[in-house]
Amino acid sequence: MKIAVISDVHSNLEALEAVLADAETQGAAQYWCLGDIVGYGADPDAVVDRVRALAGPTVAGNHDWAACGLVSTRQFNRQAAFAAHWTSKAMRPDNLEWLKALPLAERIDGTLIVHATPSEPAAWHYCMQVEDALDEMESYSESLCLIGHSHVPGAFERHDDEVRYTRAEELVVREGRQYLVNVGSVGQPRDGDKRAAYLMFDTEERRLRHVRVAYDIATAQQKILAAGLPPWLASRLGDGD
Ligand SMILES: [Fe+2]
Repeated sequence: MKIAVISDVHSNLEALEAVLADAETQGAAQYWCLGDIVGYGADPDAVVDRVRALAGPTVAGNHDWAACGLVSTRQFNRQAAFAAHWTSKAMRPDNLEWLKALPLAERIDGTLIVHATPSEPAAWHYCMQVEDALDEMESYSESLCLIGHSHVPGAFERHDDEVRYTRAEELVVREGRQYLVNVGSVGQPRDGDKRAAYLMFDTEERRLRHVRVAYDIATAQQKILAAGLPPWLASRLGDGD
């Protein structure tokens, strides 16, 4: 079975629609969502409606928690905090309640999904170094954990106590090894590639593939500006960082 794993959509409807269309063409039978569904972009309700309709396993991100008041925006930068307050005012109560009820982690058929780090999902840490990845891998017994949060797709692979980081497009989950894989961001990529990112997981072949999809960036940018959100949130979409 092919599973499309999406993360960090950040209220970007144009990017989400492009990713879902691409995943459907490639035969995705299930959709997993790793959080930060809202925040930054101009379409929080439309994006939440779309993710809810996918009806796949979904976990909460820090921006989802900020929108529904479960976490303070004190650690957010100014633009992110502004967007979080704008989002919570803009959204329908039923969608805010749905965000509020999301779990922080889920286990599906031996795979763990979490937005930030598996060891402390509610601390919203970033895992960027191999040393941190080894500590994180000690905190779960599954061979594969999928994460988002940094908006940079890539994978840590552990063989015994050796961990390596790779940004290879494809990766096969091998027997006896452990993986911590960042699926990248649908709605606000930060790795210098402005195309939307998601991960295709082929469960039979145990194959993971990072996919990039072009989308209508200009429309997403115009909506951000028209909504009165900080202009930097629009301009960075065009830079992919
Ligand atoms: Fe995010």
